[in-house]
Amino acid sequence: MREYKTRLLTGDSLGIQEAAALLRAGELVGIPTETVYGLAANALDGGAVGRIFTAKGRPQDNPLIVHIADIEGLPPLAAEIPELAKKLAKAYWPGPLTMIFRKSALIPDEVSAGLSTVAVRMPYHPLARAVIRAAGVPLAAPSANLSGSPSPTTAAHVMADMAGRIPAVLDGGECAVGVESTVVDITGPTPCLLRPGGVTPAMLAAVAGGVSVNPAVVNRLPDGAVAASPGMKYKHYAPKAHVVLVRGTPAAYAAFVNSHRTEPVTAMCFDGEEGALRVPYITYGRREDSAEQAHRVFDALRRLDEIGAGTVYCACPPEEGVGLAVYNRLLRAAAFEVIDVDG
Ligand code: TXA
Ligand code: MG
Repeated sequence: MREYKTRLLTGDSLGIQEAAALLRAGELVGIPTETVYGLAANALDGGAVGRIFTAKGRPQDNPLIVHIADIEGLPPLAAEIPELAKKLAKAYWPGPLTMIFRKSALIPDEVSAGLSTVAVRMPYHPLARAVIRAAGVPLAAPSANLSGSPSPTTAAHVMADMAGRIPAVLDGGECAVGVESTVVDITGPTPCLLRPGGVTPAMLAAVAGGVSVNPAVVNRLPDGAVAASPGMKYKHYAPKAHVVLVRGTPAAYAAFVNSHRTEPVTAMCFDGEEGALRVPYITYGRREDSAEQAHRVFDALRRLDEIGAGTVYCACPPEEGVGLAVYNRLLRAAAFEVIDVDG
């Protein structure tokens, strides 16, 4: 792999032009979106897309999301656009929603990882859309982290993982949502949720009249099962620490954590509940504020590694609304290890 002196580009028109020029030349650029930072390449250039897998250390069988700036960008990428997709796009694009289409002949195999489908999203972030427009091509972009580590929600997170591996990162500040987009299969009569995100099941149902949830969203895939969304089969978002999710009331959580206070443990807890704890802690938002938890969860997981945390007892988030996405990411960070502490 080539070595780069990675530049941090400012989020102004000069930075946008520099990012677009690199992308047109087949290079990779870290770009901000409202969900997480993406590691972008020209989606129509199989060679450029191939470099994403090398830079991230990503398994070759995990397909990428293609990002467009305007609805006119969709028809060339999809072999067919179902009515349901049109309705969902009207309601939630631009935004944190990815839909799976049958792919057109334009999509290189490197993007779809051999599948006959392609995932497409129109991000809301103005810098993301400005870069797509300036590049003049759709952009394939996975999250801009090294494969397996927590997704990046600041340019500094991208630098921590990608410095030396890519020519540039475009700085767009902190990502507003903080967890990756909702991924839905729209080939049936109602959407099927493959990955929860900022567009919640209730929001999908409000437009589509119903929604189904793939069992892999909150369950470990049985050995040998084929994942509807290949990304769901990998251990994901994992810090180096050993994370355990602890489900229970604030009092039961505190009692459980404190019973381990003579061990080298760290708590990942809700804001306002840290006063009851007798161990070191990191907070990730108030218990009832799922949006704040989504915004902070990946940064908290990265900070646990910075402080060299060994075992982390993480307070289990409520699963309502965007909380389902927070729970889904933490379940994977914990490799599905959950302890119930309510009597
Ligand atoms: O918010 C996001 O979606 C971010 C930003 C950068 O847009 N991107 C992102 O990409 O999270 P990535 O590669 O980390 O996750 C893409 C997910 C994976 O779980 C992948 O398996 C799934 O989407 N996916 C991609 N193409 C698919 C397809 N054709 N069928 C099913 N799942 C697909
Ligand atoms: Mg990812």
